[in-house]
Amino acid sequence: MKLFLDTAEIEQVRKWLPIIDGVTTNPSILEKQGGDLKELAKLIFPCPLSIEACGNFVSDAGYWANIIPNAVIKIPLLNPCGDDNIKIIHQLTQEGIEINCTALMSLSQIILAEKAGARYVSLFAGRVDDEGGDPYSMIADCMDYLDNTDCELIVGSIRTVGNVLEAVRAGADIVTIPPPILEKMAKHSNSLRTVNEFEEASRRIS
Ligand code: E4P
Repeated sequence: MKLFLDTAEIEQVRKWLPIIDGVTTNPSILEKQGGDLKELAKLIFPCPLSIEACGNFVSDAGYWANIIPNAVIKIPLLNPCGDDNIKIIHQLTQEGIEINCTALMSLSQIILAEKAGARYVSLFAGRVDDEGGDPYSMIADCMDYLDNTDCELIVGSIRTVGNVLEAVRAGADIVTIPPPILEKMAKHSNSLRTVNEFEEASRRIS
């Protein structure tokens, strides 16, 4: 499984750099955290940085792809009016721009995004869960569907360590994790007790 960091905080990216395979951002993250996308991209190069296109999807996608060599452009399957972006995803893919089709909530959407040529499809597990859906059986179905394609599944909208583990158990290609959740994954009170016990023993014998 590949691990992406879901953040725009440069210090967090620096911290987790040895174990990450990419970074995902979105406009809400950028609004909350700020962040310089060019600097982020440079730091993680050649790993991919997902940047969301907004407004005019085609020109915004072209802008970012042009100035950032490792940019993967996030395009939602639906635009704000509810029309699909299938043609746009197909066109951008034909132009050689890698697309991460984002804000996906169902297997049927993932099938369409993959058919349109998306390099990545992002299933927002936490948001599926929020509405009483079962994101983990969905992940397993998506992985079956994507088998033998060039498209990878990113599980996003991670809220807990449990969400990460369920996504891993369901066989996700990639999980994109916010830094506070990664922080929690490292911690364990029994590990802390154990290393302290060893430190104390080491002091006694030295
Ligand atoms: C993934 O690429 C998204 O940036 C993110 O995981 C969305 O999660 P949210 O539901 O917390 O907005």
